[in-house]
Amino acid sequence: MQYRAFGRTGWLVSEIGYGMWGMAGWTGSDDEESSGSLDRAVALGCNFFDTAWAYGDGRSEQLLGELLKRHPGKRLYTATKIPPKIRKWPAVSTLKDEGLVCAIGISINRWQPANVLKALATGLIDSVQVVYNIFDQAPEDELFVECRRRNIAVIARVPFDEGSLTGTLTAETAWPAGDFRNIYFQPDNLKQTLEHVAALRPHVPRDMSMPELALRFILQHRDVTTVIPGMRKVKNVEANLAVSDAHPLPTELMAELRGHRWDRWIDIP
Ligand SMILES: NC(=O)c1ccc[n+]([C@@H]2O[C@H](COP(=O)([O-])OP(=O)(O)OC[C@H]3O[C@@H](n4cnc5c(N)ncnc54)[C@H](OP(=O)(O)O)[C@@H]3O)[C@@H](O)[C@H]2O)c1
Repeated sequence: MQYRAFGRTGWLVSEIGYGMWGMAGWTGSDDEESSGSLDRAVALGCNFFDTAWAYGDGRSEQLLGELLKRHPGKRLYTATKIPPKIRKWPAVSTLKDEGLVCAIGISINRWQPANVLKALATGLIDSVQVVYNIFDQAPEDELFVECRRRNIAVIARVPFDEGSLTGTLTAETAWPAGDFRNIYFQPDNLKQTLEHVAALRPHVPRDMSMPELALRFILQHRDVTTVIPGMRKVKNVEANLAVSDAHPLPTELMAELRGHRWDRWIDIP
């Protein structure tokens, strides 16, 4: 596992971190399997975990708390997103002064990577979390440049476009009622997404899977501090974490992947 400096915090975090939404918010999750996957990730050198109170109303944070207790000797970094109970946002510098948090980040709305730029100019922000993958390349335009200039850490989220860039979806794919992916992959978006995935497929090298290619594309960008694939299965943890030790992608392949940029807007969270 390779590690990268987390902006100006002085932390060294694994360039492949862990996304913890699915295990608490998506259908088909199994706590025992998720906990086993988290343990395997720690054993393989992952030290950065992304959660939120909203992921299962605290369920994901609970799973992370249990993980921390199981590994007391390890330095594991946790990033969460917590709304204040009284719904009134405190001044962020107070949270730091009181020692409640070590760093402050902003999780940026999907497909609006530049709407955070004024907030970054306050100097209060240590990290951003943004959707960045083979399709969603817009963060490169302005956000990454600004983060580099201000030494702000970049957490790349949704590396597989919620699953399409694993190459496993079909026109018939659907999830049980209440699963977010039914909203995201609403019929129009699923159809268009599958066309984009089909266009990408011939460019996946023979000795590489689509998920591996998706992660290597992201890690190639030196402004990315860590990428946080969502994982609930040990086999996915092992496959994804192994990508950190791969060589950089060839220039010609990167040029081809740049052509798969897809700027879009659909009304979803
Ligand atoms: N701030 C926000 O508003 C926000 C929004 C979305 C996401 N996030 C964060 O970003 C993280 C990542 O995004 P995400 O989980 O939504 O989507 P994602 O990482 O783009 O995709 C996750 C999906 O990919 C599958 N997968 C992972 N590795 C695979 C592999 N090697 N082969 C095949 N399939 C694989 C997972 O399967 P299994 O689950 O079955 O292992 C899961 O179905 C979240 O978990 C969360 O921490 C934050």
